[in-house]
This record gives sequence, C-alpha cells and structure tokens, in this order.
Amino acid sequence: MDMVEAIRQRHSVRRFTDRPLDETAVRALQEEIDACNRESGLRIQLVLNEPEAFQANKPSYGQFGGCRNYLAIIGPKGKDEEAGYYGERIVLKAQTLGIQSCWVALTYQKGKTQGTLNAGEKRYLVVALGYGETSGVSHKGKAITDVSDYHEGDPAWYRDGLEAALLAPTAINQQKFRFERKDDKVVARVSGFGFYTKIDLGIVKWHFEIGSGKGPEIFNI
Ligand SMILES: Cc1cc2nc3c(=O)[nH]c(=O)nc-3n(C[C@H](O)[C@H](O)[C@H](O)COP(=O)(O)O)c2cc1C
Repeated sequence: MDMVEAIRQRHSVRRFTDRPLDETAVRALQEEIDACNRESGLRIQLVLNEPEAFQANKPSYGQFGGCRNYLAIIGPKGKDEEAGYYGERIVLKAQTLGIQSCWVALTYQKGKTQGTLNAGEKRYLVVALGYGETSGVSHKGKAITDVSDYHEGDPAWYRDGLEAALLAPTAINQQKFRFERKDDKVVARVSGFGFYTKIDLGIVKWHFEIGSGKGPEIFNI
C-alpha cells in the first residue's frame, strides 16, 4: 500500500483486537519514528503492550477498547505543528503496515501514560495503535472550496493535495485550516478558533504533501 492509498484507507479506530503488533511491523514503525525524531527534534516514543493509558471508561466521546499500544508524542514546548506533521507521518506509515490508529488528546488516562519527559518537554498527546476490530468509517467533511481558494482550472497537484488534506484527521473533525495558492507555492494556516488547531495544521500539511506529490518546499514562500 502506498501513502496515497494509506490516506484513503485511514479512519480513526478506537476498538482493537488483542493481537500484538507484528515484530517486522514494529521494526519498520520504529525506523520511521527514529527518522522523524532526528528531523524534528521531537522525542516521539512507541509504547507497546501497556493497557493502562486506555483503561478508563470515561463517559466522554471516543470510547476506546483493547488499546495496548500507542505513540507518546513528546518533545520540546512550542512544536505543536511539528507534533502533528511528524505524528501523521508515523500514522500513515502504520496504515501501510496494516495498523490502525486514533489521535487522542483528551480521552486517555494521562497519569498512567508511559514515556519519558526531559526538562522543557511536554507530552502533546498520544496516538492509539493496533489491529482494529474494524477498519473504521469515513466521515462527512468540508468541501475543497470551504478550505481553500481553489478554482476550476487550477493545477491538478493543488486539487490532489487539497483532497488529501480533507481526508486528514483533525480534532473533533473540525477541519479549521485554509490553503491559498500563490503560483507554484502554497500557504496553509489555521482558520478560526478551536483546540489543537496547530497540531491539526501539521497533520493536514503532511497529507497535502503526499496528495500533491510536492515536498515541504511547497510551503516556503
Ligand atoms: C489533534 C487531535 C486530537 C484528537 N483527540 C481525540 C480524543 O481525545 N478522543 C477521540 O476519541 N478522538 C480524538 N481525535 C480523533 C478525531 O475525532 C478524528 O480524527 C476525527 O473525528 C475525524 O475522523 P477520522 O480520523 O476517522 O477521519 C483527535 C484527532 C486529532 C487530530
């Protein structure tokens, strides 16, 4: 499965089977995590076979079941966009390995979550990982013209990037982002108010890069 296909197939999954992650998949995932940490200065950590972070049965949205594996997205403060961007790189890598996921900012047991924190670092949030009981479902979202200045006749790479961005996970599916094209460059920013919008923006930018086939320089105006 390539990354474009992974974007199409990814949906949040909150209930997992008790099958442990395959060893080869764990190795591939850890390589991606190491690469992301080297590039970003984050210290994203993979926690395996640890059920406590998701044992709560809080009566809030997002009931989790059977989650024993997760990414603890940890790093220096002020790197919210990077947390989203690099976290989603790992999420999509996981999807290509047949592993489902769900970003989780609220509905987990913060006090019981593992992962080491150095001075000046914070845990931004976690991402649940595992083999889903189902592969999840699509959600209705915004249209291209709700989140961009796209017009008919614009380049195909721009439309493809936007379509991929619209398939990205965002907190409570808020999709509070906006893209604008200036010739062969693109500006992406948070649009409106909400929680975790900078993390969402990083996630969405990674999707745009994959969908458009462009590298990160597409955003350097
Ligand atoms: C930054 C962020 C925080 C999230 N926090 C939670 C959460 O605390 N609990 C939960 O069940 N889902 C959480 N989600 C998952 C979103 O609800 C989900 O991605 C969104 O509804 C879109 O659905 P999809 O991922 O299936 O496309 C979060 C997603 C993001 C990106």
